[in-house]
Amino acid sequence: MKFNHELVEKNIGLLGIFTVIAISFGSLVEITPLLFQKDTTEPLDGQIPYTALQIEGRDIYVREGCYNCHSQMIRPLRAETERYGHYSVAAESVWDHPFQWGSKRTGPDLARVGGRYSDKWHEVHLIDPRAVVPQSNMPGFPWLAENILDGELTGKKMSILRSLHPNDDMYTDEEIADAQQVVEGKTELQALIAYLQSLGHALK
Ligand code: HEC
Repeated sequence: MKFNHELVEKNIGLLGIFTVIAISFGSLVEITPLLFQKDTTEPLDGQIPYTALQIEGRDIYVREGCYNCHSQMIRPLRAETERYGHYSVAAESVWDHPFQWGSKRTGPDLARVGGRYSDKWHEVHLIDPRAVVPQSNMPGFPWLAENILDGELTGKKMSILRSLHPNDDMYTDEEIADAQQVVEGKTELQALIAYLQSLGHALK
């Protein structure tokens, strides 16, 4: 059978329709399996949901645009795994909405920064990076030490997270009710450090 290819190439409408069909099919083939694959939808064994304070810290990380200079995605390449540790897997980000992967690295990747430095180091570094890393070009974030959290929305954030992950062992009603108390009065700096220290422990 002779298929007249010219027919498609000369008819812009037909070409458009076939292009859309081809792209849609390709996308479905790529995306659909991911929705059902266990390691992209379920946390790793021993992976703990963010605490109330860490949730607030994560929001500050996003607000301050730390992702503009720091990825949280270690590629499976030897140079990267030797520097940062085990490469990142999708499951580590199941509780991140939105995830913080990125590829822009003005500073180092932070996917496994948890536990690498003391809280005190982070405190000094975030207020004035050059106090601990003289050649650093990271900006300081001194206001974080002065801004006090009221925790008014923390409980709501936790219940939203819980509703997005009905099958995971998330927060109890009590933890959600206590969230404001836990967070209230802490500085934004304390919350951000709590978040940073939580990163990357699930897979060493
Ligand atoms: C303009 C780019 C830039 C921004 C924005 C930025 N950083 Fe950095 N960061 C750097 C650079 C460069 C370094 C490496 C030098 C140093 O340690 O200060 C660094 C280092 C770090 C380190 C040490 C990492 C390691 O493994 O040694 C941490 C932690 C960090 N940044 C956290 C943050 C957080 C949290 C924010 C947002 C509040 C942030 N950074 C915003 C550029 C940036």
